[in-house]
Order: sequence, then structure tokens, then C-alpha cells
Amino acid sequence: MKAIAFSGSAKKGGNTAFMLKTVLEELDREKIQTELIELADEEIKPCTACYKCFKNKDKKCVIKDDNLNQYIEKLIESDIIILGSPVYLVDITPKLIAFMERCGMVSIANKYLLRRKIGAGVVVRYRRAGAIHGLDSINHFFLVEQMIVVGSNYLNIGVGRGSEAVSVSEEEIDEEGVKTMIDLAHNIAWLAKEKYQ
Ligand SMILES: Cc1cc2nc3c(=O)[nH]c(=O)nc-3n(C[C@H](O)[C@H](O)[C@H](O)COP(=O)(O)O)c2cc1C
Repeated sequence: MKAIAFSGSAKKGGNTAFMLKTVLEELDREKIQTELIELADEEIKPCTACYKCFKNKDKKCVIKDDNLNQYIEKLIESDIIILGSPVYLVDITPKLIAFMERCGMVSIANKYLLRRKIGAGVVVRYRRAGAIHGLDSINHFFLVEQMIVVGSNYLNIGVGRGSEAVSVSEEEIDEEGVKTMIDLAHNIAWLAKEKYQ
């Protein structure tokens, strides 16, 4: 069983990565293989609405000069897909939206490649609005892909604190958010074992 997580944050090793790692570490303990990919240092181009994926039906996007096709392969081989983003102007990042647009269209064009895989979103905010809206955006992706969405004891939201408002420090950790991530991992593991074993 494999879980893959993608972070759409522009910042490597920031709050989104911290929360995703918290979920993955717990899944590791449940003997689920895990991988985290942070998209921070790379460009993910948006969908150009060419609809060639519907014509070609080859499980690939025709845009070849970024890593998206490699990531589609990783999504196909995974049982559990976790998508994380910080809140940028009351929504998820444009990078994660571009990722979802192109993976989502290729999936649908090929008879729903992600159908019935397990999905969970993780969103990190600072102090203003947008986390629920951002989580909804990720959940809408899972739902139109016919995936099974997993919840926790509360919505899968973390709060990034710390002096620069972008790092969860050892002293200022969002303990409620961490507990939410751990419970999310337990729910994912429970469902995965019911479904696949
Ligand atoms: C361009 C930009 C826009 C942001 N907009 C919001 C916002 O609307 N609401 C909010 O609560 N935080 C907002 N933030 C703060 C981030 O969501 C927050 O610091 C988050 O924890 C960063 O996660 P990261 O360390 O993974 O990048 C914004 C940050 C940036 C860089």
C-alpha cells in the first residue's frame, strides 16, 4: 500500500510540509509506504484546454516540459493521495490548482484513473480567512475524480505560527492541528486496510 503527498507551497520545508509529514509519519507507523513531493522549486504549467488528453487517451498531458506526467504515474501507482497547500489570498496556491487541473483532466480522459482511490486534503493558514475554502477546493477535486474523501476530528487545517508567520517552530506548534493530522492518518489507515486487505 502506498500513500503519496504533494505540497503546493512555494516554500520548501514550511508549514504545509510540516503538516503533511505529520500525516505521513503516522501512516509509516501503520506500515503504509509513503512519499512526499514538494513542488516548491518547480514550475507546474496550467491546463491549456487543448483537450488532447481526451483524444490521445494515453494517460499523459501533452505539455512535456515539466514533471507533471511523472507525477500522474505516481498518482496511478498510489492507493492514497494527500494534497496540501497553504492559503494564498483565501484559496490554495495556483501551483496546486495547475497540478489538479492537468492530473484531473488526464484522469477523466482515461476513464477516471483516480476513481475510488483514497484522498485527503491538508490546508495551512496563518490568521486570516481561506482555510475552509481551500480545503473545499481540494475536496472538490477528489469528488469529481470519484475518489473517497477522508476526514478527521475536525477539518484538516493547520495554523502556521512562528515569528515570520511561515514556520511552525518547536516552541510555537499548532498542537490542535497536529492532532487533527494524526487522527486523519489513523482514519486513512483504517479505510485503506478495510479496502485493500
Ligand atoms: C501570497 C500569500 C498569500 C497569503 N494569504 C493568506 C490568506 O489569505 N489567509 C491566511 O490565513 N494566510 C495567508 N497567507 C499565509 C500563509 O497561508 C501561511 O503563512 C502558511 O502557514 C504558509 O505555509 P507554508 O510555510 O507551507 O508556505 C498568505 C501567504 C502568502 C505568501
